[in-house]
Amino acid sequence: MKLQIAIDGPASAGKSTVAKLVAKKLGYVYCDTGAMYRATTYAAKKNHVAYDDDQGLKEMLEKTEIRFVPAEPEQKVFVNETEVTKTIRLPEIANNVSTVSAQKSVRADLTERQRMIAEKGGIVMDGRDIGTTVLPNAEVKIFLVASVHERAVRRFKENVEKGIDTPLDVLEKEIEERDYKDSHRKISPLTQAKDAVLVDTTSLSIEEVVAKIMEIIEKVQ
Ligand code: C5P
Repeated sequence: MKLQIAIDGPASAGKSTVAKLVAKKLGYVYCDTGAMYRATTYAAKKNHVAYDDDQGLKEMLEKTEIRFVPAEPEQKVFVNETEVTKTIRLPEIANNVSTVSAQKSVRADLTERQRMIAEKGGIVMDGRDIGTTVLPNAEVKIFLVASVHERAVRRFKENVEKGIDTPLDVLEKEIEERDYKDSHRKISPLTQAKDAVLVDTTSLSIEEVVAKIMEIIEKVQ
């Protein structure tokens, strides 16, 4: 059986790293829904549509294709013909994506696209509302969490490798702010689905988290 696997949780809990590895092990497709909200934020900036202009964003999305192209070490993200894989990770996008993702029209449009991608199963999808809203019937639902401090430390280490030197306390504050916005928005806020399994990754290695999730999947298969 080709399953739908939903992995939700707050920013920097390790969702994408773990989701990619689980997808690889199972030979499933990986879908990063955060990248779709980020790509929409990029398109809004490029087309001079205000980040909170619900109607403007709706019209813009009607003309916007968001595509994932398989590649190693990571899949590429395209908005129409432009590759945006790296651009969507920049602060200008990261600091505004919560505003864009809180708009009704944006959520409706991207939720529909995500359901189409997941339709046939064989998918690992990560985000904030996959288990609660996008795929309420997913066979496996994981809610991945880690302490704010641990998440900031992980982001700090990633940044050092990329030559970015944001102080740890600033990262902690940014993570807290994004958590708050994502958990308090009106539509599809970040919450654990009733039937999701909580996995706290604070003191676990990536391999340990993947093993835990594989165990949960094996019980369903
Ligand atoms: O996962 P990532 O940090 O890339 O997500 C960026 C932002 O996209 C989140 O902070 C959230 O505002 C939004 N998002 C969402 N619903 C999802 C995935 C991401 O609202 N399913």
